[in-house]
Amino acid sequence: MNINSTVISGYQSLNDMSYLLNGKEKALLVTDKNIEGIPAVQALIAQLKQQIATVSVVNSVPPEPSQHDVAAILSALPSRDVDLVIGVGGGSVLDVAKLLSVLCVKNAPTLELLLAGEKPQQRTTSLLIPTTAGTGSEATPNAILAIPEKETKVGIISPVMLPDFVALVPELTTSMPGHIASSTGIDALCHLIECFTATVSNPVADNYALTGMKKLFANLETTINEPGNLQARLEMLWASYYGGASIAHAGTHLVHAMSYPLGANITCPTAWLMQSYWPPACVLYVLRR
Ligand SMILES: NC(=O)c1ccc[n+]([C@@H]2O[C@H](COP(=O)([O-])OP(=O)(O)OC[C@H]3O[C@@H](n4cnc5c(N)ncnc54)[C@H](O)[C@@H]3O)[C@@H](O)[C@H]2O)c1
Ligand SMILES: [Fe+2]
Repeated sequence: MNINSTVISGYQSLNDMSYLLNGKEKALLVTDKNIEGIPAVQALIAQLKQQIATVSVVNSVPPEPSQHDVAAILSALPSRDVDLVIGVGGGSVLDVAKLLSVLCVKNAPTLELLLAGEKPQQRTTSLLIPTTAGTGSEATPNAILAIPEKETKVGIISPVMLPDFVALVPELTTSMPGHIASSTGIDALCHLIECFTATVSNPVADNYALTGMKKLFANLETTINEPGNLQARLEMLWASYYGGASIAHAGTHLVHAMSYPLGANITCPTAWLMQSYWPPACVLYVLRR
């Protein structure tokens, strides 16, 4: 799969977004209330309002969103006529932003049709900014939604949802509580290991996975012990990005697949469930060889 996003990264890399905002008239910023309060996000919103005539902010994305949450967000939108979607948040926010980028265009399929397997053909310009490290959603073609009625999660998958721009900004992740930094770090680790061990793995996915694992093993603990360490935070954002890129080229398997039905029934981060699944998954992996 071709990941065609331009990635900008580093401390204060959101300070001048004019190259991206030029010519845009109607922006939609998707986030949640925790993230909206981060000073760098407030500064980004102020910058958007200075340069773009109409800026709408959706701050109601819940953790692990369901199809009903996205339907509610869609129906509350002041307008679907937008030319830029920006997602700033964890995987929950980024997945919703990816969906809105394909739902807020002329002749877009409905959410129900996307869930039924119809593929989107186009999207607005999009910028994804992760605040966890993480799901790597900014580098995957997937948007994961909970389907409460079926007690599971489903992935809407299309390369069209891969963004034009990704920004990896370490100061946006320093406010993550320790338990979220560790559970989202484990999610990234699961992506990297599962993609490396997938039967459909290939040299491209393996390269991303190995580079990501190296960065993750060297930096996850540092980010927990020194939350303000921007270099370690940036390395973790890259580890997470590489996890997403390896998903785009291979895919997760046992551990993620087993976490979806259980995650739909238990209110806790999927990564907590995945930690408990690794030992049996390793045994199954070895037995299969
Ligand atoms: N699209 C993909 O490829 C992909 C891959 C893996 C997981 N996912 C999905 O991502 C979702 C989980 O995302 P997540 O693990 O990033 O967590 P999340 O987005 O659900 O966030 C968890 C909590 O952490 C808070 N938070 C996030 N960043 C913060 C920060 N910097 N400071 C303070 N609080 C912060 C959020 O407000 C939220 O309350 C699930 O729905 C999962 O299915 C998607
Ligand atoms: Fe995951």
